[in-house]
Amino acid sequence: MEMQEIIALVKETKAFVGNRERAGHVKVKGPADYVTQVDTDIQSFLARELGNRFPGIQFLGEEEGLHEMSGDTYWILDPIDGTTNLIHDYQHSVVSLALYEKGEITLGIVYDPFREDVYHAQKGRGSFLNGTPIHVSDAAALRETIISVGTSPYDRELADENFNRIRRVFDHAQDIRRTGTAALDLAYVACGRTGGFFEPRLSPWDFAAGQLLVKEAGGRVTDFAGEELDFLKRGSVAASNGKIHEELRGLLGRRGK
Ligand code: IPD
Repeated sequence: MEMQEIIALVKETKAFVGNRERAGHVKVKGPADYVTQVDTDIQSFLARELGNRFPGIQFLGEEEGLHEMSGDTYWILDPIDGTTNLIHDYQHSVVSLALYEKGEITLGIVYDPFREDVYHAQKGRGSFLNGTPIHVSDAAALRETIISVGTSPYDRELADENFNRIRRVFDHAQDIRRTGTAALDLAYVACGRTGGFFEPRLSPWDFAAGQLLVKEAGGRVTDFAGEELDFLKRGSVAASNGKIHEELRGLLGRRGK
């Protein structure tokens, strides 16, 4: 698989992201859950172009939702991770593309079109930001780092439990951050800007590429119970530089799948 060819294709989505008129075409999928014409434009573009180049590989994209996959190799795409940010021109939204092969993610790209940053990883080959190797932070304890958090905005019934969790982590860490895009949060863990990230009930397209970035940069990613993530289901995600994983997980509790 030619990594540079796939990166070049993903970078072509910048033209769609910059279209403020299309970003204003918003459909409501659920509570605080939106899709814009930019999301659907990018998904159609990448599904078509990847399909032409790799006809044997199936496609799982956010905009058609979770469904049964018959083969054992497929692309997992979030055309815009950070859709609410895009609607408000908050300028923190990314394209997240992963390749699932026989139970694991072997390739991950997170593209930030606002900063022209490409994060990529291939299993066993390390993580990179714009072609330069990246590594997780070397913080040995929460008190030495900042942690980004997700608020599970579509699942408001989780809010009390999750904001209590955020409070507990805030009390132990230097500070917390909220970008509004889980894929970018994972990329920031991978390049050591934050020591960790957590959010309950994410979908595979939110975390598939980013979790590979973190692991290949030397970090650890599990669910809140410390188990491996399942790339066909929603799940809680706890990511860290590895050294602080158990300290972070200890404050999250086992619930919030
Ligand atoms: C969302 C973002 C957000 C997170 C939500 C996700 P979307 O993805 O990653 O940061 O809090 O849980 O669903 O819907 O913008 O692709």
